[in-house]
Amino acid sequence: MESYDVIVLGAGAAGLFAGATAARRGRRVLVIDHAANPGEKIRISGGGRCNFTNLNTRPDRFLSENPRFAASALAGFTPRDFLAKVERAGIAYHEKTLGQLFCDGSARQIVDLLLRDLREAGGDLRLSTSVESVDRVGEGFKVLTGAGLLQAGSVIVATGGKSIPKMGATGFGYRLAEQFGLRLVETRPGLVPLTFGPDQLEHLAPLSGLSVSGRVSVGKTRFDEALLFTHRGLSGPAILQISSYWREGEEILLDLAPERPVGAELREARQKQGRVALRTVLGAFLPERLARLMEGLSGLQGNLADQNNAKLDQLAGLIHGWRLKPTGSEGYRTAEVTLGGVSTADLDAKTLQARAVPGLFFVGEVVDVTGWLGGYNFQWAWASGFAAGQVA
Ligand code: FDA
Repeated sequence: MESYDVIVLGAGAAGLFAGATAARRGRRVLVIDHAANPGEKIRISGGGRCNFTNLNTRPDRFLSENPRFAASALAGFTPRDFLAKVERAGIAYHEKTLGQLFCDGSARQIVDLLLRDLREAGGDLRLSTSVESVDRVGEGFKVLTGAGLLQAGSVIVATGGKSIPKMGATGFGYRLAEQFGLRLVETRPGLVPLTFGPDQLEHLAPLSGLSVSGRVSVGKTRFDEALLFTHRGLSGPAILQISSYWREGEEILLDLAPERPVGAELREARQKQGRVALRTVLGAFLPERLARLMEGLSGLQGNLADQNNAKLDQLAGLIHGWRLKPTGSEGYRTAEVTLGGVSTADLDAKTLQARAVPGLFFVGEVVDVTGWLGGYNFQWAWASGFAAGQVA
């Protein structure tokens, strides 16, 4: 039976990084993936340019039942540490917005960097190889793969979440966690477009293709970014961000002009040019199609001069606080991440090792740590992979 010090399940961002880190310490490492190609999600990420980290990484940019859990691993391997690797590899990059770093060229450069790192450190990679089971044997593990039985001192589970099943997501890591007695936090799709029922789609669908900047909130959480109307509902960065916080049955609140005192500006406009249609004056804040919709939804009749202050406040209230109730999301088919996963309560924050199963580690998206949109999820993959690779 072939024997390794460390077997890593999953050749995605977290698995490749954990594998290279362990191999650099002189450990005999094998990374296994059932997919034909490694790092497929990296390849398609960031619109093909991979938003590989975020300079503003902080624990409060991550969702988890234990919001402090990620702090230790994130401090142990920072965005600057990953950036240093990118620069050493001669990969050109740029900051797009809000600390988000993207490749100037193809995301494949990041996959190549990770593969080169693993190879130069002496780690092995086996693709198109499914993992059937993992069992404890003495102090180590027996890993049954489609290509035979292997033995390992440590196993690092980096099989990712449930999103984009057609790219190899299986949920295997969750089953393994349960098998070894670790708790799971309920999983749900995150960073995903929101969908609406026929009554609200009647208003939203005609705006399909329109992108506006605005503020979206659920409770006290809010994001100021672009939102996009689609034929099934809402998407765009602000919506993807809020989707991770939204729960079924809740409303979202849209402020379509967060930086403008719409009520005061409407009153001022009424004094200067009262004989204009409401949609025309709303055109100062909103694209024409949206201005028309807001006029319609307000139920107000007549032109600007016909409205008293209370009516203008009502209109401004709608622009600053349009309440919408999504019926659901586009689900794992398009979600960028899976929220929930292996409970952090059963993992050591410094090493990502299962507290009750020495030698078993969980890293990356399979863990109940999920970042905001904007490079945070890859930074978690690097940091958690590094933490486990240092000790496995
Ligand atoms: P990941 O899913 O990458 O890898 C898991 C691997 O395990 C896969 O290769 C899979 O084939 C393998 N596997 C699963 N089950 C197995 C089994 N039973 N046996 C063997 N192998 C198995 N994040 C970010 O920070 N910036 C960005 O720009 C983007 N963009 C983006 C775009 C899109 C379209 C998506 C879907 C996602 C993003 N993300 C992102 C999120 C990011 O891709 C994600 O958080 C990381 O890829 C997670 O890395 P992991 O290594 O944990 O899992």
